[in-house]
Amino acid sequence: MNPAIIHVSVHHHNTRAVAQAMGDAIGAVVMTVEEARRHDLSDYDLIGLGSGIFFSSHHRSLQHLVRDHTSLPEKAFLFSTAGLPWLYRVWHRTLRDAVSRRGIKILGEACYPGWDTVGPLRWFGGIQRGHPNAHDLERSRQFAMEMVKRAENSEV
Ligand SMILES: Cc1cc2nc3c(=O)[nH]c(=O)nc-3n(C[C@H](O)[C@H](O)[C@H](O)COP(=O)(O)O)c2cc1C
Repeated sequence: MNPAIIHVSVHHHNTRAVAQAMGDAIGAVVMTVEEARRHDLSDYDLIGLGSGIFFSSHHRSLQHLVRDHTSLPEKAFLFSTAGLPWLYRVWHRTLRDAVSRRGIKILGEACYPGWDTVGPLRWFGGIQRGHPNAHDLERSRQFAMEMVKRAENSEV
């Protein structure tokens, strides 16, 4: 497998920590959306796509990348960090639909808690303070390894 992980991380770099942990675990190239835009992604056979959740969906630039990039691989997994990670099925819907529209197979999805100080939350220190923590990062490594296994066994 030749995996790549593409991420956007703008609030507290929560997703960047997850992307790097995943990348180390599976030997993936880790890049930002800006870097991915300039890359021929057909060199990769699996991509992980992740960002924080902003107003109920992944970062817009990630959605635009999926919509506009001319050479995306055939297999992907989705991930995110969020203040309310248990709602990830809802948060992932927009990106999931965009990826599916491109005919890319989604092998799995995961969401981890991420420190969130949006709006008035900042006055109380935010929610999910200290996350992603070591346990979250270990879960993300296990998840990424599982995605590689699924990609190896999946025909598309
Ligand atoms: C403007 C803004 C909007 C957000 N909207 C949501 C949301 O709709 N649902 C949620 O669970 N978390 C929400 N969050 C929390 C972020 O998803 C969370 O902090 C995430 O870990 C940020 O990732 P990052 O540090 O990699 O950018 C929001 C945060 C910000 C700053």
